[in-house]
Order: sequence, then structure tokens, then C-alpha cells
Amino acid sequence: MWSGRFQQATDALVRAYGESISFDWRLYAHDIEGSIAHAGALLAAGLLTGEEYSQIEAGLRGIGDEIARGEFVFKQELEDIHMNIEAALTQRIGPAGAKLHTARSRNDQVALDLRLYLRAQIAEITQALHGLQRALVDLGARHAEVVMPGYTHLQRAQPVLFAHHLLAYVEMLDRDAGRLADAARRLDVLPLGSGAIAGSTVVLDRQIVASKLRFSKLSENSMDAVSDRDFACEFLAAAAVVGMHLSRLSEDVILWATSEFHFLTLSDAFTTGSSLMPQKKNPDVAELTRGKTGRLYGNLFRLLTTLKGLPMTYNRDLQEDKEAVFDSVDTLKAALAVFAAMLAEARVEVADMARATADPLLLATDLADYLVLRGVPFRQAHEVIGKLVALTLERKTGFAELSMDDYRAASAAFGEDVYAVLDVRRSLESRQGVGAPSFDNVRARLEHWQNALQEPSPS
Ligand code: ARG
Repeated sequence: MWSGRFQQATDALVRAYGESISFDWRLYAHDIEGSIAHAGALLAAGLLTGEEYSQIEAGLRGIGDEIARGEFVFKQELEDIHMNIEAALTQRIGPAGAKLHTARSRNDQVALDLRLYLRAQIAEITQALHGLQRALVDLGARHAEVVMPGYTHLQRAQPVLFAHHLLAYVEMLDRDAGRLADAARRLDVLPLGSGAIAGSTVVLDRQIVASKLRFSKLSENSMDAVSDRDFACEFLAAAAVVGMHLSRLSEDVILWATSEFHFLTLSDAFTTGSSLMPQKKNPDVAELTRGKTGRLYGNLFRLLTTLKGLPMTYNRDLQEDKEAVFDSVDTLKAALAVFAAMLAEARVEVADMARATADPLLLATDLADYLVLRGVPFRQAHEVIGKLVALTLERKTGFAELSMDDYRAASAAFGEDVYAVLDVRRSLESRQGVGAPSFDNVRARLEHWQNALQEPSPS
């Protein structure tokens, strides 16, 4: 592609070191889409005849089909996907193919391809996020009345609904989808037309290209456009946050699947055994997901570090952007899909959750609230209930076993109706504030998400 100036061929070591075709072939469909749009602008400028445009379009589509069928032979000496496709095109259609790269550089071409790729992937990942949200909502809806202990510091705190716990993740994943949508909005800018650095003396109508490729804006600075990768950083940052959420969910699943908790039993199909210990059933999917969060964080730092300190404008370092992006895309899609499938088959151990929720101490705060409603200042109520907690621990009983005398000795504000407070369902029923887990609130929120996440009807 640059034999004009050079008297020596590229050394084989450099060729192998510098090639990107082994991974950037994945951009082929977008490269072709971009090239056809670019040819449209060349046609409009009178730089291609209608006949040449048609040859280019048909040639590119043929190459695309061949790549899709796995029949195209990529050449390492052609370095990347852009030159592989262009060379094949020229070989097939001759002179018209050689005109395609007019007023274009691989610098604006690769910036375009990566944007097109990410736009498509963000749409797919958003669907996958919805899929996991649906799995969480379904699991919650199938157990809408199931109560469990809520934890802080991993110590039993207050009763919650199992569905409320699951819906917490649905909210997180919703914000994740919002972050991806933000990234998609900012990458909605056409870089093509920026050339290598300074546009071109051959002026094309960039709006034609933008319309064909459905970009709403044109980049306004050619130097920025060929070197900007912050759109990719934003994607990787959003992906890292998804990973953090998936990792927390993984940790819950791993804990719940222990014999100690035994809140959830994963299906055989989504667990593995041990080659040594016959009894083992391991939550590998959740562990792998927790582990893969490292890749998602790493990919963000990998790209940020590559970009830092780069002088303007395109530098070959930028070729290192793609594998980080591909890896985060692949990791996220796989994790979201397998997690949703795993949850669909998980069995909720309702009896064990009920047993854990029977811990009387979960209602200690409710007792303090009882006193508050009878005019005792909260700090004082806290102290009174703390003493009763100590008493039950000493006697190895629960609040229900304390006598009226015990209660009255602790505070004169207690009446016979205190025993009615010692009911988990009633406790939850009273948690009616917005965002709190009363049965009605949680049911309404489940319904909200069921509607919001309805699969788009196949048209
Ligand atoms: N393979 C290159 C990349 O991925 C394409 C752009 C190369 N541009 C250049 N001037 N060498 O970044």
C-alpha cells in the first residue's frame, strides 16, 4: 500500500508485531458499511461514475458475504481489516476499487469503524441487560411473598422481601443501561471526512455519509476526530460498572448457595462438581463472573493508560484500543446471558429463608419504633430495646417469650399490644414509605418492571 516510497519490504518480525487483522477482522461489516457510504459521497462529488459506484458496492458486499461465510482469506501482510478489504476489492473490480480511498485515511476509517461497532454492541448489550433484569424480576415475581433477613455488615438486620433484594439489582442494571445510552449518545458523531489529520483538499459532502450511516452529528475538528477514543473509554467505564454490579450479585448467589445460608439451590446444569470431593456442587458461573470483573476493570485501565500522554493526533498506539473493547463486549455479553439463564433455573429455598427470618432479633428495630410511637425519644428507645436484646440472649429466648413484667420493667411505655409487633409480616406491611419493602410496594415495583421490560413484540 505504500511501496512508492519504500525500497525494502517490511521485516517479517514487524509484520507479525504490527498486524491487527487477527482481531480487527471483527470490524469487517462496519468497515464495509462505512466504505459504501463513503463511495456514495464520492459519487455525489462526481469522483465516481454511477457504474463505478455500483461495482464498488457489489464488490464490497461480495467480500462481506465471503467473510461472513468464513471463506475470505485474510493476509497478515495487509496488516488490518481496512487494507485487506480494499486490496481484495481492487483485485476483484480493478480501477474503480483503487478510487475508493480518495479523501479518506485509515485514521478516520478506523475511528468510524469502532464507533459503528460500539453503537451496534451497545444496543445488543442493552438487550442482554434487559434479559438479566427480566430474569431477576421473574424470580422475584415467582416468590413475591417470600421474606428473608436483610443484612448489613453481613449480619442480620431487618426483614425484607426476597423480591425487594432482587429488585435492588434491577435498579442497578437500569442505571447501567442509562450509562450505556449516554455513551451511545456521545459516540453518535461521524469522524469520516477527517482524513489522516486535516481533512482533504478533495471536499466531500460529509452529511451524505452521516445520513447513510445514521449519525446525527459531524465531528467539528479533524485532529480531534482521528485521535479521540474517549467514546471507547466511556463504554469501558460503563462496562466496568456493570461488572461491579454483576460481581456483587455473584457474591450474593455464592453466599446463598452455601450450606450455611442455603437460600438458593442452583440447577445441576449451571454448577460444576469436584474431581476429588464427590459431594461438591460449585457455583462456578457466579465465581467466574465475579472473577471476570477484573478483566472489565482492566480493559478500562488498559485503554486509559494507552491514551495518556499520546501527542496529537493519530499514533499507532491507538491500534491497542480494539482488543480491550472487544474483550469487554464479549465478557459482558457472555456474563449477562449465562447469569440470566442460571437464575431462571435456580430454586429458592423458601423454608430455609423462613427459618432464618424467624430470628426474633430482626424485629428489634420494630420494637424501638413501637416505643417511639408511644412518645419515647428514639435514642432512649434504642437503649431500652438494647437491654431487652441482652436479656433474651442471656435467657436464650426471643422477644415473644418475655413477660409483660419484663417489658414494663424496661419501660413503662410498653402495653399488651407489644406482642402484636413481633410479627414479620406486619413489620413488612408497615414499611410503606416510597422505596421501602411493604408487600404492596414490592408488588407494584415488580409490576412496573414487568411492564417496562416487556420484550419488544416481534414485528
Ligand atoms: N490498524 C490501524 C489501527 O487499528 C489502522 C489505522 C492505521 N493508520 C496508520 N496511519 N497506520 O489503528
